[in-house]
Amino acid sequence: MIELQGIHQSYPGPGGPVEALRGIDLKIKPGEIFGVIGKSGAGKSSLVRTINLLNRPSAGKVIVGGQELSALPERELRAARRQIGLVFQHFNLLSSRTVYGNVALPLELAGTRPDDIKKRVDDLLDLVGLSALADRYPAQISGGQKQRVGIARALASQPKVLLSDEATSALDPETTRSILALLRQINKDFGLTVVLITHQMQVIKQIADRVAVLDAGRVVEQGAVIDVFTHPREAITRSLIDDLMPQELPESVIARIRYLMAVDPAPGRLLRLAFSGDESEGPLLSDVIRRFGLDLNILHGQVDEIQGRPFGSLAVFVRGARDALQAAVDHLRLAGVRVQEVNHVR
Ligand SMILES: Nc1ncnc2c1ncn2[C@@H]1O[C@H](COP(=O)(O)OP(=O)(O)O)[C@@H](O)[C@H]1O
Ligand SMILES: [Mg+2]
Repeated sequence: MIELQGIHQSYPGPGGPVEALRGIDLKIKPGEIFGVIGKSGAGKSSLVRTINLLNRPSAGKVIVGGQELSALPERELRAARRQIGLVFQHFNLLSSRTVYGNVALPLELAGTRPDDIKKRVDDLLDLVGLSALADRYPAQISGGQKQRVGIARALASQPKVLLSDEATSALDPETTRSILALLRQINKDFGLTVVLITHQMQVIKQIADRVAVLDAGRVVEQGAVIDVFTHPREAITRSLIDDLMPQELPESVIARIRYLMAVDPAPGRLLRLAFSGDESEGPLLSDVIRRFGLDLNILHGQVDEIQGRPFGSLAVFVRGARDALQAAVDHLRLAGVRVQEVNHVR
């Protein structure tokens, strides 16, 4: 559906050109929700603006729905852009227009007949659950409602692709969930291809099918969300995932470990185990305890689900003979569990 080939983008800067995109190759399939994640300054917004040619790339091709947008003259580009809807972080609504008026605007600009506009806007407001608020102004509705207006407006021209640049970054977690659910529903009901740009792994985890990790203008890692989450290859990816499953143990857990070590000074290791749906952690742990004669305390844990497969991490304090401890760690690693030593308690 969307193909980017060798995209470079640079901006003029005081000390010479700033290279925001340094050779991006991406293929996004029709009907999928494709996430692009990266830290601030990674080039995410530059990438979205390139897909709909709001920025012309310094080099490379942009192909959307079989049409090479980067080769079109400005006039044809304007028409081609109608197949691409855009949703913004700060909604970009016109404060002087009502909810209805904001959604109607792209249709008015496209010269749609008034009767058709009315019908289409009514349908769109119904779709995003805002029919009752049609006459309100942006200042009179919540952030989540504003984003619903933004989404309805983006859908007005019946696009095939929806680009979302940090659409939920200004919203609280609960509102974020409801907006993501709406995007998922639209994706399913209309087969719309969605490109979701975000700096939050939470967002990727909730709705994306595949994800690309952007760092300093390059795609450093990409794949199915479950694979990237469970087998991240790059340090940057791991740090983005850690935002979701924090590396640091809570103070109360650390206090408990100190207590356990004080009452029984036998050697012990504090480990962090990361597992995915491939390993069933319960039987595996009890098996390890029995087989190696260990004493194991689960101190802290988070289990979540991505696309129906469990995924999580556990902090465990294990005690036993030194060799048995090492054998247990090797055994867990062999079973596909990612085992990390946590040292900061001692
Ligand atoms: N219009 C611009 N002029 C100059 N530099 C820019 C412009 N837009 C973005 N940049 C620079 O390009 C890099 C990528 O920016 P951006 O695409 O906005 O990243 P992100 O959306 O991931 O935060 C940054 O170093 C930023 O400062
Ligand atoms: Mg940005």
